[in-house]
Amino acid sequence: MSKVLQKVFITGGAGYVGAVLVPKLLNKGYQVKVIDLYIYGEGVLDSVKNHPNLIQVKGDIRNRKLLEKETEGYDTIIHLACISNDPSYELDPALGKSINYDAFIQLVDIVKRNGVKRLIYASSSSVYGVKKEEEVTEDLPLEPLTDYSKYKAMCEEVLMNAGEKCFVVAAIRPSTVCGYSPRMRLDLTVNILTSQAINKGEITVFGGEQMRPNIHIEDMADLYLYLLGLPDEKIDKKIYNVGYENYKLKDIAGMVQSIVGNQIPIKTISTNDNRSYHISSRKIREELGFSAKHTVCEAILDLKRAFEEGKIPNPMTDIRYYNVKTMQAIKLV
Ligand SMILES: NC(=O)c1ccc[n+]([C@@H]2O[C@H](COP(=O)([O-])OP(=O)(O)OC[C@H]3O[C@@H](n4cnc5c(N)ncnc54)[C@H](O)[C@@H]3O)[C@@H](O)[C@H]2O)c1
Repeated sequence: MSKVLQKVFITGGAGYVGAVLVPKLLNKGYQVKVIDLYIYGEGVLDSVKNHPNLIQVKGDIRNRKLLEKETEGYDTIIHLACISNDPSYELDPALGKSINYDAFIQLVDIVKRNGVKRLIYASSSSVYGVKKEEEVTEDLPLEPLTDYSKYKAMCEEVLMNAGEKCFVVAAIRPSTVCGYSPRMRLDLTVNILTSQAINKGEITVFGGEQMRPNIHIEDMADLYLYLLGLPDEKIDKKIYNVGYENYKLKDIAGMVQSIVGNQIPIKTISTNDNRSYHISSRKIREELGFSAKHTVCEAILDLKRAFEEGKIPNPMTDIRYYNVKTMQAIKLV
């Protein structure tokens, strides 16, 4: 019964992951408040906008007064809001830091004062940098290669230091997410390659040997839901990788080709960017009993269907599908 009353506050709830997570939370009976700048579209949560348990607040997580007011009475924070990839971050590093790091320190301070009981932070598997190890486990040192990843790692540290008996904290290091969301991103590996195959009739792979860890967006959202239901002691001050399949880029391209159409050519272009990521999701499976269930092939099929049904209109020209293009076009200060 207590879960039905549980109040969840999601920053960045109108983003790619949030747009799948929010309806799932409402479905399970949670009361949900989203705070977001709606950078990628105002109508992202339209399918649930009249739900009696949903409140949407258009606002900036850097606004201290707003957060003090809006987080009052909430049990749990899921923190997704972020300038959420390297190229967007690098457009304006000072802006990126103000949102991804400074605002997080402030958020932690505010929600602790407001008596929030739990904060779950979306970090990233990119915090490891490039590793030689076959299995990249949570105990390996962090060697982030970019500022986006560096501040993800630093936020984890801030959070772990802030945890207390009455303030349960956990961080998740997701793989690259794939699949369809009502707020679509076409700047993530599987999604890019699928869109190219369908909308350009050609797949371009830079390199190909690099490994990429992947997680289906349904699994990503289901994990946040799952974490809400776990007892404090299971997750407190814990950090977990989460992913399903690690694949070489050329293998992902091959999967896209076999699903979208064998006649679609794969063009390979050599690159100096040989960054290769692969992670182990063993700890989350063994300690928390969470295993991702949906495959990369399912994500490709879901995307193919969404394109066919016209759910992703103007995929090559609408800048909202590409974070860096949107950030270039808007004047966020
Ligand atoms: N998508 C992935 O592959 C992936 C992988 C690893 C980690 N993550 C992390 O998961 C989280 C969610 O990712 P996503 O793909 O949904 O990103 P997204 O870019 O689609 O969503 C981020 C949301 O935050 C909002 N936002 C940005 N700055 C804000 C501000 N100052 N105030 C209020 N709202 C603001 C944006 O409007 C957007 O709706 C991010 O923290 C990201 O770093 C994502």
